[in-house]
Order: sequence, then C-alpha cells, then structure tokens
Amino acid sequence: MAEVNLDDVAQLAAGDPSGMLGEVEGLPAQCLEALEIGRGLQDLPSSAGIRRVAFAGMGGSAIGGDVLRVLLQDEVSLPITVHRGYSIPLSMGRDTLLFAVSYSGNTEETLSAVEAAMRQGCAIVAASSGGTLSRWAEDSGLPLIRVPAGKQPRAALAYLSLPMGVVLERMGMVEGFSSRVERAVEKLRKKKEEWGRLSPTQSNLAKQMAHRLVGKIPVIYGAGEALSVAAYRWKCQFNENSKVPAFCHALPEMDHNEIVGFQERSDLTRLLEVVFLVSEDETPRMRRRVEITAEIVGEAAGGVTVLHVGGANDLERLFTALFLGDLVSVYLALLRGIDPTPVESIAALKKRMAEA
Ligand code: PA5
Repeated sequence: MAEVNLDDVAQLAAGDPSGMLGEVEGLPAQCLEALEIGRGLQDLPSSAGIRRVAFAGMGGSAIGGDVLRVLLQDEVSLPITVHRGYSIPLSMGRDTLLFAVSYSGNTEETLSAVEAAMRQGCAIVAASSGGTLSRWAEDSGLPLIRVPAGKQPRAALAYLSLPMGVVLERMGMVEGFSSRVERAVEKLRKKKEEWGRLSPTQSNLAKQMAHRLVGKIPVIYGAGEALSVAAYRWKCQFNENSKVPAFCHALPEMDHNEIVGFQERSDLTRLLEVVFLVSEDETPRMRRRVEITAEIVGEAAGGVTVLHVGGANDLERLFTALFLGDLVSVYLALLRGIDPTPVESIAALKKRMAEA
C-alpha cells in the first residue's frame, strides 16, 4: 500500500470516513460549547455539607475526571477522586458530590457505581448523551449534563470534563474556571492552525510526530501530574485511534522502576519510540531529571523526543498537550491506513459481556 500523504486533504478524508480528524480539530469549539452546557444546567446540588468531589466513569468518560482533578486539586480545599469500576468507596455518602459520567449512558461498571452512590446517599450529577443513565437521572430528578450524541466518547473530552468544572464554579467551589478555559481556547485555535490538516508536514509537529511513530510502540512519559494525565490520554488515543499498543508512565515515579527496562539495548527496546511531555514552566530540578532520564532511555529506545509544552497555566498546557496527542494519534492511524473511528474490540467485548 502506498504511504498516505498527510498533506493531501483528499487522502485524509478518504482514510477517515467518519471524520475523526474533524472531531479532533473541533476541540476549541467544543470547549466553548461545553462551557455553555455547564452554564445551562438547572437544579444544581447545594454545596452545603459537601466534603469531597468524585467522578465515576470508564475509559473516555473517566479521563475528564482526571483532567478536572489535576486542574482543580490545588485550588479546591476538598479531595477530588476518580473511580473506574463497579463501585465507589464505602466511605462516600451524603458528604460526596459524585459526577456520574457515561457518554453512552449504558456502561455497566458506571451504572453499578451509580447504584452504589444512590444507596450511599451521595449528591449525584449525571453526564451523558442518553441511555440508561440519562433515564435514571430523569426518573430520579438528578441534574443531568446533556452531552451531544453521535460521537465516540473519546471525541467528547471537553463535553465530559468542562461542564463539571463550570458546575463547581457555579457552586462556589472554584473561581475563574470558565475564563481560564476561554483564554485557553484562543491558544488552541492557534495550535489548530499549526497542527491541523491544512498545515504542511514540514512545519507541523503533529504530522512529524506521527511519522516518527510508524512501525513503533509509542511510550509516553508525562513530567508532573498534569502532563501525566496528558500522557495517559496520548496512550489511550494511540490505542483507540491508531490501533497500536502504547504505554505511559509519569516522572518522577518512572525513575524508580521503569527506567531499568531501558538498561540494555535490545530488539525489544528498539521498538519503543519514547515521548516526554514537559511543561515549559517546569522547575529546574524536574527539567534536569527529564534530561538525564531521556539520555538514559535514549541509549536503548528506538527514538526519544522531548516535547516542551507551553501555556499560561496548567489548564492551557494540559489542553495543548491533549490536543497535540489527539492529532498525532489520528495522523498515525491515517499513515497506517487504519480508520481511526471504530473501536471494534471495545464493542465486541461489551456485546459478549451483555450476553454473558
Ligand atoms: O473510548 C471508548 O469508547 C471507551 O473508552 C468508552 O468511553 C468506555 O467504554 C465507556 O463507555 P461510555 O463512555 O459510553 O460510558
């Protein structure tokens, strides 16, 4: 098969019949719509008596919780946690504001966690595009963040994160969240010009990164908590859009275990293409740590790239890194001749579980 030319928009469209690239390029607009959805939510729970904030969800519906957790944990005096599974901790009760998030509304683990939250008396805000979760919310009078339907959950990241930030802002728990998002959108719009389909490979970092990753296993390391969430999202997007195995970890923790896997160059390590995500604003100590780690890893890996992510604050840097990773993963799918949208393994697994 002839290699896809990422600068040929007709070829990109032909390889992407469901339009995942357009979905990803739509992130700046989706951020603004997501703010509106949060502003429009009726019947907010009272913040009186709330001592913790939690998210329940799986996969593409859970990572929005991670995004808000890292962005808000240093400004909200309450613990923020994310729960992926069939239950929530027994300690969560009336003092817990739980965002129950399922794009389809039908994910069995999330529905089971919501049942537990109802039994335990949590204040629940649901977020979904339909399905059982939406029906439960309507029947029980729970506030429901209505997410536009017809997308893949992973293409709804802003819808599945930002409205909850607006809810916390409206409940008086967070300040300035919406205006920070609006400023970040300005930056994302510029990045769309730089990294979108119309920008040629020669000056397009996202396309260049995709080329580097062809035939390799992506391994993404995020420095610090916010960019570790981005690293995890990159990994998941390589899995789901590009259909390749991919792995991630975080600095500084990886320096205490994973680094040893690169001690000897071998046929295995040569398959790994490593990307470090580092904030331009990172402390000198962490920057030095990344340099040394990249040197050590680079002696064994197939290749190493250190990406410095700029922005005025964590929100800008995190969304910039998420945007870049989403684009790289779709370009990589197209280079591999793979349709980025369908996730047959997830659908097949859910079907077999439903039959079981
Ligand atoms: O990306 C995906 O399709 C998955 O990770 C889903 O988000 C996950 O299976 C949960 O489904 P839902 O988001 O509908 O709750």
